[in-house]
Amino acid sequence: MGWVSLPLLLSLLWRVQEHSIQAYEWATVCGQPQTHERILGGQDTTQSQWPWQASLKYKTHHWCGASLIHSSWVLTAAHCFQDLADDPSVWRVQLGSQSSKSHKLSFSFLHARRVSRIILHPYYLGWPPKDIALVKLQSPIFFMRSILPICLPSSINEFKNLTNCWVTGWGKIKENQVLGKPWYLKAAKLPIIDQETCDKYYHVGTTLPLFIARIYDDMLCAGFEDGSKDACQGDSGGPLACEVNGSWHLIGIVSWGDGCGRPFRPSVFTNVSLHTDWILTTINSSTFSLIPSKLVVLLTLQLYYVSLEPISQGAYLRSDQCGHDLS
Ligand SMILES: *[C@@H]1O[C@H](CO)[C@@H](O)[C@H](O)[C@H]1NC(C)=O
Ligand SMILES: *[C@@H]1O[C@H](CO)[C@@H](O)[C@H](O)[C@H]1NC(C)=O
Ligand SMILES: *[C@@H]1O[C@H](CO)[C@@H](O)[C@H](O)[C@H]1NC(C)=O
Ligand SMILES: *[C@@H]1O[C@H](CO)[C@@H](O)[C@H](O)[C@H]1NC(C)=O
Repeated sequence: MGWVSLPLLLSLLWRVQEHSIQAYEWATVCGQPQTHERILGGQDTTQSQWPWQASLKYKTHHWCGASLIHSSWVLTAAHCFQDLADDPSVWRVQLGSQSSKSHKLSFSFLHARRVSRIILHPYYLGWPPKDIALVKLQSPIFFMRSILPICLPSSINEFKNLTNCWVTGWGKIKENQVLGKPWYLKAAKLPIIDQETCDKYYHVGTTLPLFIARIYDDMLCAGFEDGSKDACQGDSGGPLACEVNGSWHLIGIVSWGDGCGRPFRPSVFTNVSLHTDWILTTINSSTFSLIPSKLVVLLTLQLYYVSLEPISQGAYLRSDQCGHDLS
């Protein structure tokens, strides 16, 4: 702990100040973006409009969307992991970035995390329903203007009459067209479609009898009959966020669809409110709650300090190595 490292610590603290970082396990507020810019359907958006949006990366590649719900946890779709849920080391979570390719010069330890645990829903059998998974970050993320959690729908509250719902993601913009440079997050406003109507839509153009349901259990639909706006490949795992009483709630997780933007084939999401109890129980039971959250912040800072120290000796920088693959 030589004098050489003191300026580093000070500059780190200055950055902490600069970003007005707050860290809680559960935020005291959720679903409150700090910006009120106008959004147009299907257009680019700024990250601070959707500060809970995360990119789940397989090594360095954007693979799925995810949503921040706690300083150490994001929620995504179980199908994103395919056979790779047993190896958290190949996954990264990037937050606070408008582009799915993160900025090289950003302080990536503030914005990106390795993954320490992947918990698929115990009844997920390789295909929806129960297409939901919890991902634990290796260390808590700091909340700032561009990184804030979204509210979980309480399993008791019924969410009826949802009129302001948006899907966001870095996925394909058409069935055969990937998102181009600068890979900015897109948002589209979608109306919720009730399960019965959606199931009827999904039978249009098939010989399947109506008594064999295609949309059932925890599947929730949103979109247009004519398919004019839709989620697509690469949006999977991302949020369907709805504003209720002035707060944004994570109502759905992008799960599947039949192609993208096709008529009578709206996007299908996992209905999060059916899983709120599982989410809370799982997080509560895997968080070491004996350590008060303020202490966690101090310990984390201490850890950064320790890992920053070797810089002056030209040695290996741990926090840098953590974010390295993401640039
Ligand atoms: C649903 O929301 C709309 C628009 O906010 C409102 O005009 C309408 O009265 C609401 N209906 C119910 C049943 O709450
Ligand atoms: C929104 O506000 C209404 C009226 O105050 C209340 O009945 C309802 O439970 C609230 N919904 C949520 C999700 O908090
Ligand atoms: C989602 O599940 C809840 C039950 O928790 C239900 O009340 C609601 O209608 C479902 N949403 C849709 C759009 O099917
Ligand atoms: C989990 O912890 C949160 C925050 O302390 C609390 O609000 C919630 O009721 C807990 N849920 C369960 C299922 O233990």
